[in-house]
Amino acid sequence: MYDIPHLDLPPLRSASGAVRLPGSKSISNRVLLLAGLAEGTTAVHDLLDSDDTRVMLDALAALGCGLRREGAVLHVTGLGGRLAVHEARLFLGNAGTAMRPLAAALAMLAATQGGRFELSGVPRMHERPIGDLVDALRPLGCTIEDLGTPGYPPLRISGQAGGRLATDKPIRVRGDVSSQFLTALLLALPLVAHDSDVVVEVEGELISKPYVEITLALLARFGIGVHREGWQRFIVPCSKHGGRYRTPGRIHVEGDASSASYFVALGAIAARAEAPLRIEGVGSDSIQGDIRFVAAAQAMGAEVSSGPGWLQVRRGRWPLAGITLDCNPIPDAAMTLAVMALYADAPTRLTGIASWRVKETDRIAAMAAELRKVGATVIEGADFIEVAPPTRWQPAVIHTYDDHRMAMCLSLAAFNPVAGGHAPLRILDPRCVAKTFPDYFEALFSVATAAPEDVPVITIDGPTASGKGTLAAAVAAALGWQLLDSGALYRATGLAAQWDGLSPDDEAAVAQLAARLDLRFEGGRSWLRGHDVTEDLRLESTGLLASRVSAHPAVRSALHGLQLAFRRAPGLVADGRDMGTVVFPGAPLKVFLTASPAERAERRHKQLISKGISASIADLRADLEARDERDRSRSVAPLKPAEDALLLDNSQLGIDESVQQVLAWWQQRGPFRA
Ligand code: DC
Repeated sequence: MYDIPHLDLPPLRSASGAVRLPGSKSISNRVLLLAGLAEGTTAVHDLLDSDDTRVMLDALAALGCGLRREGAVLHVTGLGGRLAVHEARLFLGNAGTAMRPLAAALAMLAATQGGRFELSGVPRMHERPIGDLVDALRPLGCTIEDLGTPGYPPLRISGQAGGRLATDKPIRVRGDVSSQFLTALLLALPLVAHDSDVVVEVEGELISKPYVEITLALLARFGIGVHREGWQRFIVPCSKHGGRYRTPGRIHVEGDASSASYFVALGAIAARAEAPLRIEGVGSDSIQGDIRFVAAAQAMGAEVSSGPGWLQVRRGRWPLAGITLDCNPIPDAAMTLAVMALYADAPTRLTGIASWRVKETDRIAAMAAELRKVGATVIEGADFIEVAPPTRWQPAVIHTYDDHRMAMCLSLAAFNPVAGGHAPLRILDPRCVAKTFPDYFEALFSVATAAPEDVPVITIDGPTASGKGTLAAAVAAALGWQLLDSGALYRATGLAAQWDGLSPDDEAAVAQLAARLDLRFEGGRSWLRGHDVTEDLRLESTGLLASRVSAHPAVRSALHGLQLAFRRAPGLVADGRDMGTVVFPGAPLKVFLTASPAERAERRHKQLISKGISASIADLRADLEARDERDRSRSVAPLKPAEDALLLDNSQLGIDESVQQVLAWWQQRGPFRA
């Protein structure tokens, strides 16, 4: 997950391969609430790990639920409908799926068992309505105070033990602002005792019905069969004792269908027929309403095949077709259609989306503003948006409004080369995707391809112990870019030669081996021929082997192609000897790091001491100076700065200051010059 103020996307040209989706947010938070309040322990598989589920987990922990992680499985021991904690302040971020159901559940539990709870969130949460739910709860005998603007969080919920809820009359709740109010009531009502069945009546046209279907399906998994008459009346079976949820023992969270929409769209926009995009985690058997997005994408031109737990998408009709669609059943995924509209040959009109205005941000206004930036013509109304594709694509700095879906949707505009554009995009605050899909951009870049010449490269070189490896890794992390530690390729070659019993001086044999090097970097570890060599690569003895094999021109050229392959979106930081001179001579920023021999000797000394190895600073300095001399004077790839390299003497600089300097230089050169 990138911790960066903005992410620059180069123009992207195609997509293929496979992505695995994170768990569904809607299912995750409902399952957590149900498991947290049920009797018994539930093993939850494939739970989404994101901002919205984290606030729910924190809330459950504060309420006394048992939470135990075992690998990828979370074991939740529920309260069995009995409050264990009667006073708590719960911070629920911007998670509507936590705020609404917890408010209803705690209101009913406090009214019958006594308690006092405060529920709050981020400032935007305090602008998202909850009044319709509060209005449904108060007539039941729940005490709910508005601590800020009436009708919005924060709320204080309280009650005395021994109270009873007035559930003999139908409970009325509005359904035309958010379906979460109805969901919240349905999830909470089984917790409290009733003498007869409880009826919930929906006022107004219920929106987002598929989300209510998820609620009913999950209630059924926890032993509660809610009967529904159309979408107007819901009957919760009576329970004399309350606390009636029963754990199903184990439950599996499907991949998020709304998150799938970005990759379905991507397949329709950029996956060639012979190389479709495969999406794993959600498929034809999904219980999520947003799976219906697939039909909408097909109407625009996507070619989709599917099975249980998977989808496969490729481009069909091209350009995409403009459509007119009532998006009421798929409010979240519909945002993705607005971005697909950029690639259509006629305008697309999405109606029935008034709820967009009360989501993480006013999504109609936000979408209109950002799509216009890339060149689209947009008409917006109270409950619709109409998008006509750009005639000229524009480079754009995209605001994301702390809205994960804005960031994910607009990233798809970077594929504009498939529609005749060549415009880079800057996504501000890309971290906001953490709400539901923390690794979204990693997933995107794992399937997206840019033309190599469109992928920016920063090269970093310098003498031994100058700290170039540390600097390169930090700059790559700060920009969210790929990292090429070219020294590691020579080290791995040396190691593989040793494994095969080859002499490092046998140029032809080592070059042959280098050309077939089976080396992978994954999750901070390095794998050579399937063996974890992370530690072995850093050994001094491996460094010596590397310096010998790297002196052979045939070995250098055998590794050339492998190094070029690291030039992948969104950008590359390449560290090593000839990165700026031979491998990426056109790199727009080349840095040559220096530090005085005294300073470098001191750093190396500290490094050795920390590993428990003793050494004299004077000897180390003499070694370094001898190595500098050898490196400068060697005939093959001598150590020298590229002519257009910027020198950075970091003798007096900390690592952060060096990173800031490189980033400042990049700001002056990148596509969005400061
Ligand atoms: O940067 P390092 O210590 O991992 O490099 C190991 C050896 O490989 C060192 O002797 C320099 C050499 N090397 C090279 O010749 N060309 C590169 N691009 C990177 C490293």
